[in-house]
Amino acid sequence: MMVKKTITRYAMSIDNMNKGTGKIKSLNILIIYDSIFGNTKKVVQALQDGFKEIHANCQILHASEVDIKALDNTDLLVFGSPTRAFHPTPLLSSLIKNKTLVFAGKKVAVFDTRADISTIKSKFFRSFLNNMGYADACLRRKLAKRNAIVINETQGFYVTGSEGPLREGELERAFLWAQTLITNLSK
Ligand SMILES: Cc1cc2nc3c(=O)[nH]c(=O)nc-3n(C[C@H](O)[C@H](O)[C@H](O)COP(=O)(O)O)c2cc1C
Repeated sequence: MMVKKTITRYAMSIDNMNKGTGKIKSLNILIIYDSIFGNTKKVVQALQDGFKEIHANCQILHASEVDIKALDNTDLLVFGSPTRAFHPTPLLSSLIKNKTLVFAGKKVAVFDTRADISTIKSKFFRSFLNNMGYADACLRRKLAKRNAIVINETQGFYVTGSEGPLREGELERAFLWAQTLITNLSK
């Protein structure tokens, strides 16, 4: 039922994007990510499944694989990073700073993976993590600085302990978030 609703909204998004051209074009989504222990990569794959479910084209690139041409003809860029010391990974941060890549006017969405603090044993570390923020806010700030258009609320997906695995239900949440992103793309 929810997927059907999203497909209808998706068709409306395409209509809006192609107004006046008389052509139907399907959406091209590129997910750019980094991952140390593999959890963020799993979220990326669930997002791709979510996009494919509603017939959007979705390509995945690790941050080390992105070149100037990669951003061509994309309707939405999604950035995903593990939170490491309250920030995205250095690789993803330097990619966003890279002046040869043009983000201005591009629609982007961001997410991070982060520790579920209830699974961290040290009380000190728990309160530290709780107060210092996550990679999603940094990604958003950095992309806004490059004049990208951040289209949606950012998302954090939780891992247990400091290295994972992902908390139960997070992959399903990622799958559904992909569809929310498409719905919001036309707003
Ligand atoms: C060195 C290190 C620093 C971390 N810093 C944070 C942090 O500041 N906040 C947080 O919520 N989680 C933190 N974590 C947990 C990571 O977010 C978690 O390892 C990550 O989400 C796993 O994603 P990945 O498997 O894609 O690397 C840290 C983990 C490590 C190993």
